[in-house]
Amino acid sequence: MDAMTLLTTRYSSARLTEPAPEGEALQLIIKAALQVPDHGGLKPWRFVIVTGKDALNRLGDVFAEAAIEDAPGISAEMHERARQLPLRAPMVIVCIAKVTEHAKVPAHEQVQSAACAVMAMQQAAFAQGFGGIWRTGSYAQQDFVKQSFDLNEDDEIVGFLYLGTAVSQAPNRTEPDPEQFFSYF
Ligand SMILES: Cc1cc2nc3c(=O)[nH]c(=O)nc-3n(C[C@H](O)[C@H](O)[C@H](O)COP(=O)(O)O)c2cc1C
Repeated sequence: MDAMTLLTTRYSSARLTEPAPEGEALQLIIKAALQVPDHGGLKPWRFVIVTGKDALNRLGDVFAEAAIEDAPGISAEMHERARQLPLRAPMVIVCIAKVTEHAKVPAHEQVQSAACAVMAMQQAAFAQGFGGIWRTGSYAQQDFVKQSFDLNEDDEIVGFLYLGTAVSQAPNRTEPDPEQFFSYF
């Protein structure tokens, strides 16, 4: 896929199945993440790849525990729902902004750089025929989840990038009118 086709046709896929990217395809996705704009060269990102049933189930356990911490009286159904969330794709990449104090690079710029990496990885996956969706949800900010990934207080989970092979076709949607969003100064 050429670059302009990628940039102008990319879409997210919520329904994902096997196979997940692996081998060379995964290496290119990783490479794309490490190529994003990065003020000060701080490399303020960490990525945790969760793939395979065991690892996905362990992430599900983390979400299930987080659900209980958020709402101790949660129903068994909601508890189980939290546990199942990571199983919506064969791979989830936990995308973390590892924030350090810097005189010229405020925390929000470090978070933005990590967010660029999420988008870059989704695009790299899409360009190679895989599907993905960037999700956050309440668990991205939940303390137990953050502790499970050894985050410090200032660090942020900027997204859970679900990757795999898209089950559904491209959405049929109308393009936004550029004039509503762009003007000349
Ligand atoms: C920071 C961020 C967080 C998001 N979190 C969620 C989420 O938790 N759940 C969800 O269904 N979509 C979430 N989305 C939206 C999807 O990633 C996706 O953009 C949306 O479904 C529209 O699809 P499109 O990318 O094809 O336009 C999030 C997007 C961003 C940028």
